[in-house]
This record gives sequence, structure tokens and C-alpha cells, in this order.
Amino acid sequence: MKKNIKNNVWWVGKVDWDLRKFHGDDYSTHKGSTYNAYLIREEKTVLIDTVWEPYAAEFVENLAMATDLKKIDYIVVNHGEVDHSGALPELMKHIPDTPIYCTAHAVKSLKGQYHQDWDFHVVDTGDKLDLGNGKELIFVKMSMLHWPDSMASYLSGDNILFSNDAFGQHYATDKLYNDLVDQCELFEECIKYYANILTPFSKILRRKLDEVLSLNLPIDMIATSHGVIWRDDPGQIIRKYAEWANDYRENQITVLYDTMWNGTKTLAEKIAEGIRSADPDVTVKIYPLAHTDHNDVITEVFKSKMVVIGSPTIANSVLHPVAGFIHMMKGLKFRNKKAATFGCYGWSGESPKVLKDMMEDAGFDLMDEGLKNLWNPDREAQKRAMDYGVEIAKASL
Ligand code: FEO
Repeated sequence: MKKNIKNNVWWVGKVDWDLRKFHGDDYSTHKGSTYNAYLIREEKTVLIDTVWEPYAAEFVENLAMATDLKKIDYIVVNHGEVDHSGALPELMKHIPDTPIYCTAHAVKSLKGQYHQDWDFHVVDTGDKLDLGNGKELIFVKMSMLHWPDSMASYLSGDNILFSNDAFGQHYATDKLYNDLVDQCELFEECIKYYANILTPFSKILRRKLDEVLSLNLPIDMIATSHGVIWRDDPGQIIRKYAEWANDYRENQITVLYDTMWNGTKTLAEKIAEGIRSADPDVTVKIYPLAHTDHNDVITEVFKSKMVVIGSPTIANSVLHPVAGFIHMMKGLKFRNKKAATFGCYGWSGESPKVLKDMMEDAGFDLMDEGLKNLWNPDREAQKRAMDYGVEIAKASL
């Protein structure tokens, strides 16, 4: 199905209401997603991106109803990842000689994935493609946002920025535009997307935002490749990205733990109580890592000024849901966040120190050696945990 978004520009993507996991099983998509592709029909006809491979046949069938496939003059691939390029092989069976415009890295990506020698045309930032009727596409490389090949394309005259992954969200909707959907849901998915995918590239993103803004291009719409098109105040998501890219933190402390027989859980709850007693204004949230969605918890870590993490000692180390989660945080390269550790033990008691070392390695600033407790916390131990919470509240300031 096609939908007109402005003048001669059409959305020709796919809404994936079914999707619950993305990037294999690595990213939870509770609200599905969309793969947005766009068709521009000026004197020249251009297709921007395609959809994920399982929907290739449906995509090509719908596209053929939107335009005679043989009339497509150019294909622009803003990004070679399979959720956007997956339908290319099916499409190219019909129009094998159509030129594909993309970055040099995208040529490597497409050749590496599909092993085809299509008619690639490499473009760089500032290169233009004349579409006739006084309109042109201007390309802007978005390297490492979030892949080396990522690129955005700007349609002059209509002032539409086709931003690909940037400014997107995994959010299935047939409403198409940012002003037509629930704003809480929308921004929840935007920040989750940023926290889980873009955090490691924040420094690059700061530079790229400055570069794009310095071009002074009027932007009436940001047409992303996932979720909604930003037509109502598209600058709002650019401003959010500028905020998020700047070592973002709110007045929040997040307590994370796993537990075997509830001793470490009791410490978590008492530490949280101590934090709240010392600072009633701070938001304190507690998450058991073994049965909470890790992508959702990453979003909470992204919002936090301090992370307090606990595990009982097992086999001289820590429980694997906690270790796995710290590994995930390390990959995301969080900066400007403090941390503290805790855990119960029965004999050797290494867990707070193991956690401290892991958290330091993940880039967190640890406040001390952590709190450890022999056996289940009695009243006295619970009081110590509360006092530790008070110290955490002070250290987080
Ligand atoms: Fe939506 Fe990087 O693919």
C-alpha cells in the first residue's frame, strides 16, 4: 500500500505489527516496528530504501502497483542493513540494471550480503542527484550512526530529510506521523532506541548534528526508516538527540540485582529505602535482572546518574544475568555515571568486588568497595544496607 506524504513523495514501506525481537533476539520490540521506504516521482522516479526480507515479495508487489517498476530511474540505499535492503534482491530480479546510489561502505555491505554486482554509484556528503522539476536529492554521510555505511538523503523543494535509522523508533503504527500517535509511547520508544543503539556513538552524533545544522537546510519533515515521520515540529527530535548525546542523565538512581534466596533482594530494597530517605526528590527504581527485559533496563540506566548493582557470590563470582547485563552496558559505553555494588554471601563473598571491577571496566565511576553481607540480612544488616543507601544518595550528588 502506498501513502502520499507530500506532493510527489509516497511512503511505500511495511508496518510490522508482529515483530517482538530485532537484531536477532538482542533488542525487544514490544510495540512492533515499521520499515519505511519512499518513492519520489518527479521527472525522475527514485526509490529510497526497501523493507526487511520476509516482506520482500509483498513489498515488490505493492511497489509495482504504485509505479511501473521499469520506470524507477534510481534506487537510493541509505543503509545496507537487512531491515532496509532485504527486499533488494527480489526487486532487482525485475529491474537488474537500475543504478543504486549509496556510500562506498554500503557497496561492501550489499555485495557482502547479497553477492550481486549491481550498478553501484558511490556518493559522498554534498553529492546531488537531479530529479527534474527543480528538485534534487542531496546526500549526507552519517558514518557510524549507526553503521559505517549509514547515510541520509535530503529532498530539496519538499524539504524532506530521509534520515534512515536516525530519529527512528521501533513502533508499529499506521498513523504515519508523529502528531497522530500517543506521545508517551512515541518518546518511550525513541529514548529506548537511542539508549540501546546510539549511545556508543554519542560523540560522533554531536559532531554530525552540528554539521547538519550548519548546512541551514530547511527541514519540513524527517522521514525516518522506522516508526513515525516527524512532520509536526521535526526539530523536536533533533533537540532531543542533542540532549541525549550529551552524557544524558536525569535525577534517577537505578538499583539492579539478581538473587538466589532473596538475601540480595532484601539488600536492594533496603538500599533503595536508604536512598529515598536521604533524598526524597530522587527517582529510585529497582529491577530484578533475571526477569526484566534487558533493553528496557538499559533505557533506565541511560536515564540514571548512578547505578547500584548487586549479586550474591556464586563460584567466587556473580550470577550470570548480572554479568551479562554489565557486558551489555560496557558495549554501550555509558559515560558520566556513578556506581555502587552489593551482595550476600555464605562463605567467600567476592561478589561486590567482582562487580566493582566489572563496572569499572564498563566505564562507571565506583564510589567504594561495595556492601557485602554474610547470610541473610537480619535487622542490623538491613539497617547497614539503609545506611549504605544514604551514602549512595550523597555520592550521587
Ligand atoms: Fe534499521 Fe541499522 O537498520
